[in-house]
Amino acid sequence: MALFERENDNFSGDVATRALSAAAVENDFVERVYGNLASVYDVVYGPPLHPGRLQAVERMRIRPNDQVLEVGIGTGITAALYPKHCTVIGVDLSVSMLAKAKKRLRRKAVENVRLLRMDAADLQFEDGVFDIVYAPYLISVVPDPVAVAREMHRVCKPGGRIIFLNHFLSPRPALAWIERLISPLTIHIGWKSDLDLSAFLAQAALRATSIAPVNLLGLWSLVTCQRD
Ligand SMILES: C[S@@+](CC[C@H](N)C(=O)[O-])C[C@H]1O[C@@H](n2cnc3c(N)ncnc32)[C@H](O)[C@@H]1O
Repeated sequence: MALFERENDNFSGDVATRALSAAAVENDFVERVYGNLASVYDVVYGPPLHPGRLQAVERMRIRPNDQVLEVGIGTGITAALYPKHCTVIGVDLSVSMLAKAKKRLRRKAVENVRLLRMDAADLQFEDGVFDIVYAPYLISVVPDPVAVAREMHRVCKPGGRIIFLNHFLSPRPALAWIERLISPLTIHIGWKSDLDLSAFLAQAALRATSIAPVNLLGLWSLVTCQRD
């Protein structure tokens, strides 16, 4: 069984064609939501999601001079976790989230992270420039996860890694049913609760080399893919 074919898939239909989520959003909506969330983001989404952030950076094993792209850097919570010997570009759609990130970088004297406002679905970089392209808690936020994954793949160097840290639709039918039911509501607090990992990977033509459970009860996953 390929790593991305999870047992007990509970969305009907083929992974190549089925809907990734029961909820739909647009960039304007997402920007508005994060404009409102920016002032409380670190309190609400900081500590509960932090074990996953720590594990992700540790497992990256970043080498000296690696070029890292963090997609959806938000308020820059991960910025101070990167080793000083790498170079990081952090992009985000939300001006309010980036403003918080800018203050954090200054406060923590982080000098190897650069911030840019950019849409993850339209990355303004050449092909194959980053060793690691990392999206923490982003892929269930964007309108088109597959378009974002394709962009992440495009800007990643051959042999480089594309990493997603995210909550995905549960493989347990009862929980999945609830996650699909509430997804049109959770978008108002910044994310879809029912992104289907198997369908996402299949439609983005990505193969996971590892999927590790992280955070409380292992309800989030750290998904690492390698660019061929
Ligand atoms: C849940 S937050 C994650 C922030 C951060 N990575 C963390 O670990 O806390 C999602 C972030 O993705 C950003 N975002 C949403 N859609 C985006 C897009 N199309 N392009 C770039 N960033 C986007 C939001 O503005 C927000 O800052």
